[in-house]
Amino acid sequence: MTDARPRRDSLGPGEPLMTARGLQVGYRRAILPPIDLEIRRGRMLLVLGRNGSGKTTLMRTLLGLLPPIAGALDWQAGLRRAFVPQSGAIDAGVPVRAGDVASWGRMRGWSFLWPLPRRGDRAATIASLRALEVERLRHQPLRDLSGGQVQRVLFARMLAGDTDVAVLDEPTAAMDGAGERAVYKTLRALARDRGIAVVVVTHAVSAALRTADQVLLLDPDTSAGGGDARDDAAAVAAGHSPGRILLGPPEQVMHDETFRSLFGVTAGFEKLEAADVA
Ligand SMILES: Nc1ncnc2c1ncn2[C@@H]1O[C@H](COP(=O)(O)OP(=O)(O)OP(=O)(O)O)[C@@H](O)[C@H]1O
Ligand SMILES: [Mg+2]
Repeated sequence: MTDARPRRDSLGPGEPLMTARGLQVGYRRAILPPIDLEIRRGRMLLVLGRNGSGKTTLMRTLLGLLPPIAGALDWQAGLRRAFVPQSGAIDAGVPVRAGDVASWGRMRGWSFLWPLPRRGDRAATIASLRALEVERLRHQPLRDLSGGQVQRVLFARMLAGDTDVAVLDEPTAAMDGAGERAVYKTLRALARDRGIAVVVVTHAVSAALRTADQVLLLDPDTSAGGGDARDDAAAVAAGHSPGRILLGPPEQVMHDETFRSLFGVTAGFEKLEAADVA
């Protein structure tokens, strides 16, 4: 069934798999200014922003779970796409075993709720659980796992999926530092070695920044970050939500002012890099 797809190694590393133009996301009304964005094969995109800035809303729109308010959103046809949700999105009361959840990663499309593993998926599932050091939890109900263990299982499920695109919403929020570093190292390898397009929403900025090719920074309200009130007025006059969208390489986007407006601290990308663990 996958034979109609172009062979991965015949494609350039930066081929756009998704293109968004003037994309406005929200609930009845846009909550962010229009976004121009490409998701490219073999590249890793970090999505940053304060709590409530619209990161999950944008991910839900990219996943097709939420209709855009305006603009164009085009995915290349026939892609295999994996989604690792924010851990709170998984109902811990659902009586499933960790191994089942991991095998859902072999599903086509974005859905993770239909446990229909294909034949031959078992080995891939077990291998990825082993890579995340949670193989021994395979037969335990998900509700008996810790938050960080659930996230490792969800990540393993994504790894088992042999995907073209991986979208992850705060995949390490409940993980310890070692787990966090392992995930970002793995994501980097997935992008570079397997040509997967990785999109990851995170607050784990120091662990994630070094691995990213691009940063998308969502800032729906520039008032606290030195934004220009005239720009906001012009945006509103044009019918857009005020604020700003920054997109570029980490060292370009993450300067002192953006750190301050995002996190209330002064720390540039270079300082973080210097302080980061090896
Ligand atoms: N179903 C909904 N209906 C209306 N508004 C919503 C809905 N879900 C989220 N919002 C609002 O949209 C805004 C963006 O929320 P979103 O969940 O996208 O933020 P986020 O950047 O993912 O935050 P966090 O870092 O806390 O996960 C918030 O003001 C939120 O209250
Ligand atoms: Mg969110």
